Amino acid sequence: MAPYSSEPTPIHMIVFGGNGDLALRKLLPALFYLEKEHRLAEPSQILGASRHHFSQDEYIQLVHGSLQSYVPACDFDQETWERFARRLNHVSVDGTDPSSFTSLKAVLDERADLPRIFYFSTPPSLFAPLADNLHRNGLVETTSRVVLEKPLGHDQATSRAINESIARFFSEEQTYRIDHYLGKETVQNLLVLRFANALFEPLWNRSYVDHVQITVAETIGVEGRWGYYDHAGAMRDMVQNHLLQLLCLVAMEPPAGMDQDAVRNEKVKVLTALRPMDRDQVLANTVRGQYRDGAVNGVLAPGYHQEEGANKKSRTETFVALRAMIDNWRWADVPFFLRTGKRLPKRLSEIVVQFRALPHLIFPDAEQVVKANRLVIRIQPDEGVKLMMMNKTPGPGPMAAKLTQVPLNLSFADTFRSRHQDAYERLLFDVTRGNPTLFMRRDEVDAAWQWVDAIIDGWQSDTNPPKGYAAGTWGPSASVALIEREDRHWHEDLDDGEIG
Ligand code: BG6
Repeated sequence: MAPYSSEPTPIHMIVFGGNGDLALRKLLPALFYLEKEHRLAEPSQILGASRHHFSQDEYIQLVHGSLQSYVPACDFDQETWERFARRLNHVSVDGTDPSSFTSLKAVLDERADLPRIFYFSTPPSLFAPLADNLHRNGLVETTSRVVLEKPLGHDQATSRAINESIARFFSEEQTYRIDHYLGKETVQNLLVLRFANALFEPLWNRSYVDHVQITVAETIGVEGRWGYYDHAGAMRDMVQNHLLQLLCLVAMEPPAGMDQDAVRNEKVKVLTALRPMDRDQVLANTVRGQYRDGAVNGVLAPGYHQEEGANKKSRTETFVALRAMIDNWRWADVPFFLRTGKRLPKRLSEIVVQFRALPHLIFPDAEQVVKANRLVIRIQPDEGVKLMMMNKTPGPGPMAAKLTQVPLNLSFADTFRSRHQDAYERLLFDVTRGNPTLFMRRDEVDAAWQWVDAIIDGWQSDTNPPKGYAAGTWGPSASVALIEREDRHWHEDLDDGEIG
């Protein structure tokens, strides 16, 4: 395995879908920040590729406009923009037509010295023709890399077909499957929290942990993406990738080091230890929901069936809650509750590690007030870590009346005042320097699909539609029942639930 550079290395970044939403909203702003921080080594080039016929000036203006919208004014400066604009170019390519790659080849050949990074920010149906046509035109070299955006297929079979078509021309080492959650600062901090502190690891197992909750809640709806979203649903859009990646980082064994295979090997072991669910287990351990109209933060929100372009009969889930079990020594009998949904009351991603109750209480009459410790890792917003601990309130009086649970609170914003880099910024930098540690390996994606496919199959044999929930609530009441039947509670229902 080639070692990766810790320094920026010059590259030629070719963004297919270069005028698309993801490119304009996320990728180009992330590249702009890399420019600003001098992490795009000279003479790197950025080439937008799309079917559209833009002149050089038109494309530069398009990118300028998107940076005005997506980069805060305080971070946008003219000098950086001028440097960045000099690297920008656009070429018109139809990904399905090999003859249209001629102008792309001409542009790339002018800078044949630069390693090529092909970013496929397109629907996955274009991945195979793009790879094929790049190869036919002699554009794939041993130094080239390809970055694949999710969704990586619709199920295990289609994901395998995509991976197969890419593997014909790019080795696994050249393939970067992106899950932007892995680029988030707080998600990386999870590794630091677990493996750079001696405190937690001895407790991080079935002897001390009662259960784990992973919540990724969004207030937004489908945001004009009905066509894509309705075909995917929350399970494919969020659980198969983002939530399972978070689960892997919480549950994996300590890797021997931070090199790409050490980390990814441990993640795959978690995914393959997830207990598969048959139809009855799916019905007992999962909840599907779909939002109805309601209000989010005081603003009226339409139901899923009233969204623009909606098919009113759709049974696609916009909410999932499930109880997963990991069959290994560390996690036997410890449930992992996962939950994600659109149009929930707040935007919030967090991991809660709920520790077991005390084995014995020495304070008389304190049973009602003493609560088990809880570690809350806030991924977004208000990033930080909070450890809920019992404490004595100062002052006289009976001990039991004085015991209270308070947070030991590390707020990233208060502690580290520097700007948080965006997930894409971190991940694009890693691609430029050839570090695939934070990208998904083929076997990881495959194992995640295998587990998810069984759940979706179980749902398909269920004649009931997803349960409705009003926009602005925490999903169907069945989600509460799922966790409360074991006398456990979703974190926001506990009295330290206010974490904003
Ligand atoms: C994307 C999903 O992968 O992640 C979207 O396709 C979702 O539906 C988004 O809104 C959430 O990402 P973030 O970074 O805003 O939590």
